[in-house]
Amino acid sequence: MSEGASSLHTRPAPFVGSEFPDREFEELCRFLRDTQGFDLGLYKDRCIKRRIAIRVRALGLDNAADYLRVLHRDAAEAEALLSALTIHVSQFFRNPSTFALLEKQVLPELFRRAGSGGRGRLRLWSVGCAGGEEPYSLALLCNDLTVAGVSVSILGTDVSAKILDQARKGIFEAQRLVEVSPGVRERYFSLEGRHYRLAEHVRNLVMFKQHNIMASQEYPRTDFIMCRNVLIYFSRAEQERILARFAGALPAGGILVLGRSETLLGESRELFDVESLSERIYRRRES
Ligand SMILES: C[S@@+](CC[C@H](N)C(=O)[O-])C[C@H]1O[C@@H](n2cnc3c(N)ncnc32)[C@H](O)[C@@H]1O
Repeated sequence: MSEGASSLHTRPAPFVGSEFPDREFEELCRFLRDTQGFDLGLYKDRCIKRRIAIRVRALGLDNAADYLRVLHRDAAEAEALLSALTIHVSQFFRNPSTFALLEKQVLPELFRRAGSGGRGRLRLWSVGCAGGEEPYSLALLCNDLTVAGVSVSILGTDVSAKILDQARKGIFEAQRLVEVSPGVRERYFSLEGRHYRLAEHVRNLVMFKQHNIMASQEYPRTDFIMCRNVLIYFSRAEQERILARFAGALPAGGILVLGRSETLLGESRELFDVESLSERIYRRRES
């Protein structure tokens, strides 16, 4: 037998999620809750332990207790773990038919309301904005929709500080732009090597801020909330609590957009009218 083949037999099997003992898992949950305000218990994802195991292996460790020791002393590892636990997949104009409806109907109407009798200010909030693709898509739409006398502010929030740093840079792989029309790509993006950089004046329309929708009771007042593919990770009870807080953050007539596999639950069903069922667009009812 060759040396390579025999060493394959002696190499220990890599650490896997099923080896994460309950006691250490509970300690890790406590640590994330106390230091990051991140409550793993509220996530319904059954693959959580598998994702934690990826971090254990990335540090070259083979047991949960050693990993916890590193986690306690190394703040960077806490951030890396948080990134591994939250999935940052996104795209510009993800679900294009949703953005088409926003562009043609929903946003022009919000602009009009903000102008005539409104405060002259329109506030948009993209929740769980990952690398910024979603709030920047809104910025691209608003850039062409502006109404005289109305200023627009776009807020992008996410639980992960690391992904927000990336979002602020405004640099994207080509695959994030597959739904961007050639005209928009030409006008607003510049090619840098194999990446695309969004024009500075569009980037400046978006403000990014770290915000955890599970831990925080303080939601900013806003006219429009886009929260897609975030609630799916939470338990039903937690989704209900968050949806009620969204309703509290919106004025009558304000808009909520959810992801394709998300819907209103519990009390929130009484607080919104359906604007488009297929696009998961809802309007805050008059109270
Ligand atoms: C799959 S991405 C969705 C990105 C974008 N909304 C979209 O649909 O393309 C989910 C995002 O939600 C964020 N997230 C997960 N838990 C969160 C929480 N408790 N508070 C705020 N953001 C959270 C993740 O960090 C991740 O960037």
